[in-house]
Amino acid sequence: MGHRETAAQSPPHILIFPIPLQGHVNSMLNLAEILCLSDLHVTILLFDHIHSRLLRHAALQSRFSGYPGFRVATISDGLPADHPRSGERILDSVRSLKEVGGSQFRHLMESTDELSEGGDRRRVSCLIVDGALSFTIPVVEDMGIPYIFFRTISACAFWAYFCIQDIIDAGELPLKGKNEDKLAYWKRKDMDLMVKSVPGMETILRRRDLPQFCRVEDIDDPGLQTMETETRITTQGIGFILNTFEDLEGPILDQIRKHIPDLYSIGPLHAHLKARLDSKGMESLQHHSSSFWEEDQSCMAWLDSQPVNSVIYVSFGSITLLTRDELLEFWYGLVNSGQRFLWVIRPDSIIGTESGNPNKNIPEELEEGTKSRGYMVGWVPQREVLAHQAIGAFFTHSGWNSTLESIAIGLPMLCWPYFADQTTNSRFVSEVWKIGLDMKDTCDRILIEKMVRDIMEVRRDEFLERAHSLAILARKAISEGGSSYFNLNRLMEFLKSTVS
Ligand code: UDX
Repeated sequence: MGHRETAAQSPPHILIFPIPLQGHVNSMLNLAEILCLSDLHVTILLFDHIHSRLLRHAALQSRFSGYPGFRVATISDGLPADHPRSGERILDSVRSLKEVGGSQFRHLMESTDELSEGGDRRRVSCLIVDGALSFTIPVVEDMGIPYIFFRTISACAFWAYFCIQDIIDAGELPLKGKNEDKLAYWKRKDMDLMVKSVPGMETILRRRDLPQFCRVEDIDDPGLQTMETETRITTQGIGFILNTFEDLEGPILDQIRKHIPDLYSIGPLHAHLKARLDSKGMESLQHHSSSFWEEDQSCMAWLDSQPVNSVIYVSFGSITLLTRDELLEFWYGLVNSGQRFLWVIRPDSIIGTESGNPNKNIPEELEEGTKSRGYMVGWVPQREVLAHQAIGAFFTHSGWNSTLESIAIGLPMLCWPYFADQTTNSRFVSEVWKIGLDMKDTCDRILIEKMVRDIMEVRRDEFLERAHSLAILARKAISEGGSSYFNLNRLMEFLKSTVS
């Protein structure tokens, strides 16, 4: 911008508001960057504790320094600074914001100075908002600002959430056993009954594949109820964005379109962003980092010294917590499989281990196999890792970003879903796309050893062939003329029209 623009001349101003989970923030920042590339003004509204973490690793500053139209605003969840926010406790933050966020959000939106910088930028012309943040809607409705929901989960999981009331009406919910451990669910035969009340998934979903929020005692469970209301409200938006692509989830997207016609499937977003940066000669993988934890780059040198396709990458994402027993089952399974492994164990992810150091008190028989074939780190640059030629498969918690990153690069997956949408994603990986195995609800060293061998050696070719085909379709979707490319341009046109 060579001259100072007045607000009336300046581009549309989009406010983007993610919930404070790594996968959600990553997806929303990817969209933010794509919009910045098209010279839109973007403000990302972050929970203040997430903003501080990103600042600590200088993640946002370096990534967005070249975009003059990018700003950050923050909002407080109202909890004390030292409130534990690791693992699922991060959801306390979302719950609390639901209580206290409405007035803060109204103040932010109504104070002309904060978001429009004293008149240098337009007032917000459109809100793009995550799930579970519906307290924002009355505020923007009062102000006449259009809003779009961007659910950063899969279409299949979203559709299962959307049908919760139908599943209840059909008597297929509640599943009961809220406080049971995974093993108890594994033993329950009723969990293998097919769910008949989710259109398009009648021959796919078993009860154990329903989103984890369905594992409740009764239908009035607050978590289940919130999920249902926060999903249904999506129909009120002026559009709806999903990070997926038509060749991956077309039939499910068509089901959703019956209720929300203006649906923009624009994924895989991380690859889409990369393609758009490439086309402007601006690409570098490192450039995209927005990690909440410091990335340990030493794993890249370790990977450089491993043979092609010989390493299974193990990561259970940003929320998963493991008991010491589960940790050991995975560890024995990995070591006994004889395969090489790169394993991300977040510092806060082992229950009851204050230091988070998994190497404390490890059984002697694991030492040799770990030293010779394994490498363990606290957090990695995951997209770089997945792209490394030494990686042969991904052992994942089936978070949607991890799943899409794996699909985009054509890697088979071994799935151990932990939470929320992940139980549905892993079913689609194994039964619909047939690019991996789902060890849902089990955590047993013998089975892990077998499945790791299956994914890395025994059944590798069959998974790899399909994974490669899907990766090609993903590339096609984001290339000129592809469905996601088309939908993203359509979204951009819509956003630009919000100021005309
Ligand atoms: C959350 C929810 O738990 C999940 O159910 C939903 O599907 C998405 O948001 P999360 O644990 O954050 O999941 O997983 P995921 O969606 O897979 O996102 C994790 C992100 O962190 C990925 O983009 C991945 O590349 C990145 N990551 C992970 C790293 O950069 N380094 C790591 O070491 C691990």
